[in-house]
Amino acid sequence: MMNIIKTKQEIKKMRIAGKCAAVIIDEIEKYIEPGITTERINNICNKLIIEQKAKSACLGYKGFPKSICTSVNEVVCHGIPSEKQVLKRGDIINIDITVIKNGYHGDTSKMFFVGEYNKLGKKLCEKTKKSLYEAIKIIKPGIRLNQIGKSIQNYIANTKFSIVKEYCGHGIGKFFHEYPQVLHYEAYDNELILKPGMTFTIEPMINSGKPQTKCIEDGWTVITKDKSLSAQYEHTILVTEEGCEILTLNKTDTINKIIRS
Ligand code: MF3
Ligand code: CO
Ligand code: CO
Repeated sequence: MMNIIKTKQEIKKMRIAGKCAAVIIDEIEKYIEPGITTERINNICNKLIIEQKAKSACLGYKGFPKSICTSVNEVVCHGIPSEKQVLKRGDIINIDITVIKNGYHGDTSKMFFVGEYNKLGKKLCEKTKKSLYEAIKIIKPGIRLNQIGKSIQNYIANTKFSIVKEYCGHGIGKFFHEYPQVLHYEAYDNELILKPGMTFTIEPMINSGKPQTKCIEDGWTVITKDKSLSAQYEHTILVTEEGCEILTLNKTDTINKIIRS
């Protein structure tokens, strides 16, 4: 198996890439309002990425046609920005930014409310963000990778929401999607022990209805089968000696960047 522990120099580059992705999440916020198209959000983000001397990891990835993913309401993930898609009051949208900077990847996403929020959407987003935080807080060397999924599952079990099982987090570094897969539910098959220097994403997708999803005809957009709302938050994480560091922390995060357990 390939070495999944990053060197000091690699970690430096991962910090820079993570920061780059996080800054774009912060800067796009003011544009998210009723009437904007997802195509325009894509174009603004791409410009911001280029201004930082980085490039989009999504554009052309397995043929993906745009620079970011925009997933609105019942879209779970991998929504394709389009000039035909106009945001309206009450929509919820996930914006997922993955950049390549100095050969390393930073990957993060969060939910935005368009105009006023609707009650269910807000609750769903809160719980989804909290489930990510619960997982981040337990990360330290010596724990098993599958503890991450377990903590998300335990947290979401106390809500009326459900966890998407078909998509997962991933190791990240020189490559967009590296070993290992990071599941968001409890599984017994991965006994991998976390070690300092590992970098991976956690990116739970939580539905207001049933957990099942389907991919539509464009080959990318994943929606909830029952058309219920879906939310997702994603961070790129570094395992440290004492706990972990959130490489993609943004201004709206309400968790410490450095976690010591
Ligand atoms: N950023 C997504 C992730 O978190 C992957 C998007 S792949 C794309 O892993 F091709 F759809 F952009
Ligand atoms: Co990811
Ligand atoms: Co992502």
